[in-house]
Amino acid sequence: MKIFITRIIPQTGIQILKNAGIDFLQWEEKRDLTQEELIAICQDYDGLISVGQDKIDKKFLNACKHLKVIAQMAVGFDNIDVSEATHLKIPVGNTPGVLSAATADTAFLLMLAVSRKAFFMHKRILRGEWGFYEPTGNLGIELHGKTLGIFGLGKIGFELAARCRSAYHMSVIYCNRNNNPEAEAELEARKVDFDELLAQSDVLSVHSALTPETKGKFDYATFSKMKKNSIFINTARGGVHNEEDLIKALDQELIWGAGLDVTNPEPMDKTNPLLEMPNVAVLPHIGSATEETRGAMSRLAAENIVAASKGLRLPNPVNPAVFD
Ligand code: 8YV
Repeated sequence: MKIFITRIIPQTGIQILKNAGIDFLQWEEKRDLTQEELIAICQDYDGLISVGQDKIDKKFLNACKHLKVIAQMAVGFDNIDVSEATHLKIPVGNTPGVLSAATADTAFLLMLAVSRKAFFMHKRILRGEWGFYEPTGNLGIELHGKTLGIFGLGKIGFELAARCRSAYHMSVIYCNRNNNPEAEAELEARKVDFDELLAQSDVLSVHSALTPETKGKFDYATFSKMKKNSIFINTARGGVHNEEDLIKALDQELIWGAGLDVTNPEPMDKTNPLLEMPNVAVLPHIGSATEETRGAMSRLAAENIVAASKGLRLPNPVNPAVFD
């Protein structure tokens, strides 16, 4: 089996491919491949290790029907037309679980940074604006005893909720299609409908996948229903919020602040007004970016490839129907 990898990935995954005797090539240029380039390259390969930036749509899949496996090195796979892959009987895998703690840490970091305007304060020092001490200046808000609302409570949301409970005794509410019995038992999380989530959350953190149902879910109307002193956090996908509406909501003080690890588009334009707002913290999609987590993600991606090379079911399939 010959695998094309659209990025340089950690050695953990590379070693697994080598041990299994799998031939591979990593794309070493520091730029996204165009879809035309990726299609052309994949003609010579049997499998692909992809990332969220690769457009694996109908056009790509139909031009690369011969692929035996697509192993996405990410938990999210909104860049992949999974139903088309299933139709073409191409197994698709992802890397769930291993990035939950790192991503929850990023959400926690953003929550704290926003609540104390940390990124803005840092910028002020760089600009030589430390200046005069004012007892009423530079004030943030505290998190102790506040309510954390989670939109899409899965593994990452659970990890964030656990951190918020132990650090600040925050109460947890969540909005999901299904109940999360583990969060209810361990974190006293309470399932609420979307309007109650908006009305009750002091910190509202998005952890859902990007789907037609969640696309643009947080817009002007939504922000208008949130508490005036609330903080909006998104470490999931930029497409779940409407960025123009978020800017308006912050300008009009409909909400207090926002922390984003994901934007729409990515990268965010450097002139985006969010970057100059005191109560906003933006990171360049680094949710899973730790040595440990990226190593583990490369391991899961490589294990999906090795299984496919043996004609076995992927250990982490997103379209298990292809094995039926
Ligand atoms: C990836 C992520 O680094 O796993 C995900 O879904 O968002 C990140 O861990 C990103 O998608 C790049 O592929």
